[in-house]
Amino acid sequence: MPLEHSVVDATAHANIALAKYWGKADIARNLPAVPSISLTLDALVTETRVSFDPALAQDELELDGRKASPKQCQRVVELLDRVRRRARIVHKARVSSRNRFPTAAGLASSASGFAALAAAASRAGGIELEWSEVSALARRSSASAARSVFGGFVELPAGRPGDDGLAAKKLAPATHWDLRLVVAITETGPKAVGSTDAMELSRATSPYYEAWVSAAPSWCEDIKHAIAARDLETLGQAMEQSTMAFHCCAMTSRPSALYWGPGTIAAVRTVQQLRRRGVSVWNTMDAGPHVKALCEADDAQAVQRALDQTPGVLETLVAAPGPGVSVSLDRQPV
Ligand code: DP6
Repeated sequence: MPLEHSVVDATAHANIALAKYWGKADIARNLPAVPSISLTLDALVTETRVSFDPALAQDELELDGRKASPKQCQRVVELLDRVRRRARIVHKARVSSRNRFPTAAGLASSASGFAALAAAASRAGGIELEWSEVSALARRSSASAARSVFGGFVELPAGRPGDDGLAAKKLAPATHWDLRLVVAITETGPKAVGSTDAMELSRATSPYYEAWVSAAPSWCEDIKHAIAARDLETLGQAMEQSTMAFHCCAMTSRPSALYWGPGTIAAVRTVQQLRRRGVSVWNTMDAGPHVKALCEADDAQAVQRALDQTPGVLETLVAAPGPGVSVSLDRQPV
């Protein structure tokens, strides 16, 4: 039955890369140059509603209750166009998306946003995709979004040229390992350079880019085995090396993309001090100034307390392993 007049809601959760993605093998198809591994998080949620409506003259997008800018619209319209082509429909869509992140600070929402949009738009367009196809659709818009389609521990392989169907796959469910990610927010406001532009700048200008691309797969392998064995020390060491290596690449671009601020360094030091005191806790940072500390559930309170007391840390929150995308069909076709 065509669902063109139906309203579809999808919920997706953000993810944190344990092994980072940085750099594209194919810009047009948005294929990553390196494999990455992530953990989907329960605390950071995006809810997206999509309906295709013959009465609309153009796609309408509302983000957190406000009309979206033309730049924000462009990536969304591109995804909707892919769905329309596949579903053989021409109607424009109404999209509204809301981030239920327990903080006002700029944590990445593109992963959960595009995962939710890919799931909601494909269902609203009347096409029933496999989850791997939803992941591939999300990946075209933002590669990290491919991972948020699945819950728990997730891998996105590197892309081979022309590989349109590249999708993430689940390594282990959220229940596999009761880890916590303590997020230390160190600045408010949007980041200076978006990751899409900065990783391309790294590829074009950093002398360390080739070294990054050749080393990244081995950290991914270490992390994959560490997840299977629930070995936090091996995971943590590989995760920290992956983080530092991609930041090195970004920092040594021309112009430099430096994401860290004083609070970032202070929080990294706090995590190192905790480790010297015997707590197994490990750092990772994305394309922004916040520090994310990975530890066992039992250590999360002590880690949060230490980060709360760190100068330059404005706020902390704790996230646990979370689920993949869920979809609900609100109304029957009219
Ligand atoms: C540092 O997925 O935002 O968070 O594919 O261009 O949208 P695009 O990039 P994006 O990059 C995420 C980069 C990262 C590391 C990661 O999540 O793996």
